[in-house]
Amino acid sequence: MLMHLLFLLSCSHLFILTNSSSSTQPLYHEDESSALWQFKESFSISEHASDDPSAYPKVASWKLQGESNDCCLWDGVECDEGTGHVIGLDLSSSFLYGSINSNSSLFRLAHLQRLHLADNNFNYSQIPPAIGNLSELRSLNLFLSLFSGQIPLEISMLTQLTSLNLSLNPLKLHKPSFGTLVQNLTRISELSLSNPLCHEDESSALWQFKQSFSISGDASNDPSTYPKVASWKLQGQSNDCCLWDGVECDEGTGHIIGLDLSSSLLYGSINSNSSLFHLAHLQRLHLVDNDFNYSQIPSAIGNLAELRSLDLSFSLFNGQIPLEISMLTQLTSLDLSFNPLKLHEPSLGTLVQNLTRISELLSLM
Ligand SMILES: *[C@@H]1O[C@H](CO)[C@@H](O)[C@H](O)[C@H]1NC(C)=O
Ligand SMILES: *[C@@H]1O[C@H](CO)[C@@H](O)[C@H](O)[C@H]1NC(C)=O
Ligand SMILES: *[C@@H]1O[C@H](CO)[C@@H](O)[C@H](O)[C@H]1NC(C)=O
Ligand SMILES: *[C@@H]1O[C@H](CO)[C@@H](O)[C@H](O)[C@H]1NC(C)=O
Ligand SMILES: *[C@@H]1O[C@H](CO)[C@@H](O)[C@H](O)[C@H]1NC(C)=O
Ligand SMILES: *[C@@H]1O[C@H](CO)[C@@H](O)[C@H](O)[C@H]1NC(C)=O
Ligand SMILES: *[C@@H]1O[C@H](CO)[C@@H](O)[C@H](O)[C@H]1NC(C)=O
Ligand SMILES: *[C@@H]1O[C@H](CO)[C@@H](O)[C@H](O)[C@H]1NC(C)=O
Repeated sequence: MLMHLLFLLSCSHLFILTNSSSSTQPLYHEDESSALWQFKESFSISEHASDDPSAYPKVASWKLQGESNDCCLWDGVECDEGTGHVIGLDLSSSFLYGSINSNSSLFRLAHLQRLHLADNNFNYSQIPPAIGNLSELRSLNLFLSLFSGQIPLEISMLTQLTSLNLSLNPLKLHKPSFGTLVQNLTRISELSLSNPLCHEDESSALWQFKQSFSISGDASNDPSTYPKVASWKLQGQSNDCCLWDGVECDEGTGHIIGLDLSSSLLYGSINSNSSLFHLAHLQRLHLVDNDFNYSQIPSAIGNLAELRSLDLSFSLFNGQIPLEISMLTQLTSLDLSFNPLKLHEPSLGTLVQNLTRISELLSLM
């Protein structure tokens, strides 16, 4: 009798469970499923697009067929239990590769509160101005995802934002300034916009420069002598040259303004074709104590018109100092000492006569 009762009880329990699960029938919005699907279809999947070791293509498991097109069940998608609207999309580290613009179906997800697309490759797209349409957004994370260009003014329409992470993208922050953009985002408690990635042309110029030398010599005696370039990487998205040893970038513009490869065991010749001279924003260039194989100081040095400090001492430069040194009118410090240089025509006096800002002309011989 008791057993019977228990059995009945458990049956009714079962019944209730079944009943309640059928009453919370998948609740989703067809238009949002199809917007998400179109968004997914606008990218290719590339393993090189994400850096995180735990990355995997979340969208690969999404299905749009028969009745299984309930996007609320898709990996990375979060729906509101009451309304069924998509309120969260987390496709961070998902191998997404491709461009995105304001026409993207993403911007039809008007109820989104969280949008996390960090660590993908959006192919130097601009952040689309339509981002401003996602007026419910609380959290936006586009960390390390190769967005470039100006941050759109429309970001300032996202007044619900509490967290904004745009770090490690080659973004510009000039007109309007970032301060202006976020001045009305009064709820933000987490804001991250750390150093922009360095400019692609500059990182490739620097990489070519590195490739033009071999590493030679003995580092064992002096801990400050080691091949700084050996730790540089150019792969996936870790080609942020602003993080490379010896490289300094301007925090606002991302341009390379400093290069110190002193005591780096560089061995090789250098001439005016060197990609070094594409780094037009360089203010400090220190290549002390390397072996430039009795090259002449290339006349293209005159292209580096922003240089404030130039130190080529102890580096086996040879021959005549180029006249173009005299074009470096911003120089405050110049050291060419301990190189077998010649100083005849023009004379040193002539060369430096217009370099009126130099306060540290340490030595030229
Ligand atoms: C990436 O951007 C380049 C330049 O705009 C374009 O030619 C290329 O088709 C884009 N690739 C993808 C996958 O969108
Ligand atoms: C968006 O789509 C429209 C119509 O298809 C097209 O004319 C426009 O150029 C597109 N805009 C962008 C930014 O691709
Ligand atoms: C964004 O909002 C504007 C103004 O409300 C509207 O005209 C536009 O169609 C919206 N764009 C998208 C992609 O929904
Ligand atoms: C911030 O709010 C003020 C006052 O409403 C407005 O004048 C200004 O244009 C807003 N700034 C931005 C960047 O939206
Ligand atoms: C920005 O987002 C990335 C990826 O989610 C995270 O690792 C990083 O800590 C965030 N930065 C800040 C300052 O929150
Ligand atoms: C060094 O200079 C010599 C003579 O010009 C040249 O033969 C040799 O290839 C150079 N070595 C390197 C690594 O550039
Ligand atoms: C620089 O490159 C050009 C074209 O590749 C070549 O003709 C020239 O000889 C090179 N100059 C030097 C100094 O190597
Ligand atoms: C220095 O400036 C004067 C006047 O502009 C100019 O004539 C002269 O050629 C310059 N000297 C050098 C070495 O550039």
